[in-house]
Amino acid sequence: MSASNFPDTIRAIQYTGVGGPEVIKLNSVPFPKPGPNEMLIKVLYGGVNFLDINFRRGIYPLPAIPWTAGWEAAGVLESLPSDPEILSDPEFKARQFKVGQIVASVAPVAFAEYITQPWIKVLPVPDGIGPKLAAATSLQGTTALTLVEEAYNAKQDDYCLVHSAAGGLGLLFCQLLSARGVHVIGSVSTKEKAELAKANGAEYTINYKEEDLVKRVKEITNGEGVHGIYDGLGKAAWQDNLEMVRRKGTIVNFGNTTGVIPPFSILDLKAKNIHLVRPDSSQYMVTPREIREYNSLLWKTVKSGELKAVISKEYPFTPEGVGEAQEDQASGRSLGKLVIRIAN
Ligand SMILES: NC(=O)c1ccc[n+]([C@@H]2O[C@H](COP(=O)([O-])OP(=O)(O)OC[C@H]3O[C@@H](n4cnc5c(N)ncnc54)[C@H](OP(=O)(O)O)[C@@H]3O)[C@@H](O)[C@H]2O)c1
Repeated sequence: MSASNFPDTIRAIQYTGVGGPEVIKLNSVPFPKPGPNEMLIKVLYGGVNFLDINFRRGIYPLPAIPWTAGWEAAGVLESLPSDPEILSDPEFKARQFKVGQIVASVAPVAFAEYITQPWIKVLPVPDGIGPKLAAATSLQGTTALTLVEEAYNAKQDDYCLVHSAAGGLGLLFCQLLSARGVHVIGSVSTKEKAELAKANGAEYTINYKEEDLVKRVKEITNGEGVHGIYDGLGKAAWQDNLEMVRRKGTIVNFGNTTGVIPPFSILDLKAKNIHLVRPDSSQYMVTPREIREYNSLLWKTVKSGELKAVISKEYPFTPEGVGEAQEDQASGRSLGKLVIRIAN
């Protein structure tokens, strides 16, 4: 489509305030005009993330109201940046962008028919992966990779606990860690989730609704506890994590699914010389090079089959569709990854 053929307005899924799914609306907004460092993308699929719920609920502040939902998108690249300095930047050239190709981005305002994104946030998607899988993998895939590489670099024969092991991110942790020869213990709430976590690399699963999680982890690890804990739950898991981690072990808390960890005494870490990390994956991928390298690793692991997003449901591009997807995730009903189909 030439620039003159673009519409004056597009549809976007927006939060019209902080609250429940009722604040999600489909609004008509002006066609986004790319700045000199930005690219225009026709969005085909959006990935659903707990992050979206945190913004809607006001746990992370909305930058403006109304605010376009979504943090993960894949679609067709419609234009390159116009700034000549960017076009000659070696990092820009290294990505080998071509107008018309499928690209993915992890950045705010993803759930709209067209979006503009700073070029450093946009990555070409290799042939054979497609927009649906790209939208399902970009954010959680790079999160799993950065956290396993840099927050706690688990080694062969380590024992690691993955909370919410059948969630979007949880399954990717199970896959990556088991491929490294780690003994993965997955905590889950149902039998179906236990089976899914096992099929994706968990050696042990513990249904925390039926079993004593701390006791079972201690049994599995001969009383020593685990080397690493990958925890997106936050508040509800904090005290148990202190008990389940072994001496010199690492707790990686990367999410607040059950609330932010309340204030605690730093002396709590001293009894076992515990390492505590609270990472945001985007802070491992700040420079254009860091973003490109982690995404190259992402596509390599996706192509090799080491990382495989399990997409359990696709929802329509409507306020009801996005609301239902978020409620399925917020209630713990969802398995693996959810996506929104934004256009054909
Ligand atoms: N720091 C970062 O860079 C980063 C990046 C991406 C995601 N995250 C965070 O990582 C976490 C996981 O994200 P995700 O998108 O993959 O979500 P998810 O794990 O697919 O969904 C949440 C899961 O959490 C479990 N859960 C336990 N208690 C819950 C409760 N009270 N309410 C809702 N769910 C509960 C449920 O599994 P069970 O039924 O098995 O308990 C549920 O399926 C989120 O906290 C997210 O914000 C952080």
